Amino acid sequence: MLFRTMTVAAAMLALTAPMSAAGGADDDVLVINEDIEITTKAAASPLLDGHLDEVISGWHFRDDDTQAMEMDDFDNPGMIFVDQAIEVWNTAEGSEGKSCADCHGAPEEMAGVRAVYPKWNEDAGEVRTMQMQINSCRTERMGAEAWKYDAAPAINMEALLASVSRGMPVNVATDGPAAETWEKGKEMYYTRYGLLELSCANCHEQNYGNYIRADHLSQGQINAFPAYRLKNAKLNGVHDRFKGCIRDTRAETFSPGSPEFVALELYVASRGNGLDVEGPSVRN
Ligand code: HEC
Ligand code: HEC
Repeated sequence: MLFRTMTVAAAMLALTAPMSAAGGADDDVLVINEDIEITTKAAASPLLDGHLDEVISGWHFRDDDTQAMEMDDFDNPGMIFVDQAIEVWNTAEGSEGKSCADCHGAPEEMAGVRAVYPKWNEDAGEVRTMQMQINSCRTERMGAEAWKYDAAPAINMEALLASVSRGMPVNVATDGPAAETWEKGKEMYYTRYGLLELSCANCHEQNYGNYIRADHLSQGQINAFPAYRLKNAKLNGVHDRFKGCIRDTRAETFSPGSPEFVALELYVASRGNGLDVEGPSVRN
């Protein structure tokens, strides 16, 4: 069919023509505030056997200036939003008159939590992302309204909770009750989407290190989320990023917070097991 031939041609054009040879990941070392050492390269988990030997943070694929912004909290524009979230953390809201701090203490008490999300919640019988868990605290324990998925208040709070886990290895569980959701996410990762018929793997597994147009392709890891993007000058959530990537393949996409993106987040997070939590990061 002519149409089919053309879409494949379009995909080839999108991928091969403007793609120049591997620059690969650089050998720089990420230390934040001259204090927090971040593991940005690690042996891939056995779940990735036959796919990847090493997992690499997206930080290694950015230019020196962008990398430098993440190395100091005063230069990282994402940290402004973390400060905003600290205020919210300490402010009572909702019919119960409670703040996050009333139940959880200082944000630092949450160190390590970001590293294990998305996570199975036994009572709810579902895999929850960090934002789902935060919203459950808001609606069920505070009597406050849920935050819109990936909107500023939610993403800022996620950034605060990521920031206190920086330097701790991502370690999401993929087995037990989470396995079914994980499988669903894995299937999505290898599904070809859109007119360009490209899967996540086509770009982020088979072509990382190459250039697509002017962009240096990374492995599409999410250990460093939320990410402050210079392009839109705000913190971006994982689901928003997925949405953008799927849209780039000229496909209809899923909504932030949808079960599809929750599953995809669990799967992509597990591909980064062994890398350290790095958010909020700086990206272009
Ligand atoms: C009235 C007490 C209460 C308030 C207020 C509250 N939480 Fe919670 N939160 C809990 C309890 C209890 C749990 C653990 C039980 C569960 O899984 O629901 C929890 C769990 C969590 C977890 C997951 C921890 C883990 O180890 O998996 C996060 C993250 C969290 N809360 C964030 C927040 C944030 C952010 C706020 C403010 C917007 C908040 N909570 C407000 C009681 C509260
Ligand atoms: C046509 C190629 C292409 C496809 C297909 C694609 N992406 Fe991307 N993606 C990019 C480019 C280009 C960037 C920006 C450079 C980079 O970080 O790799 C990016 C960035 C990302 C990032 C940000 C990484 C970071 O460190 O900031 C994530 C996460 C991501 N993609 C996930 C996905 C997922 C999941 C899929 C499948 C649903 C997908 N991408 C499909 C091209 C693609």
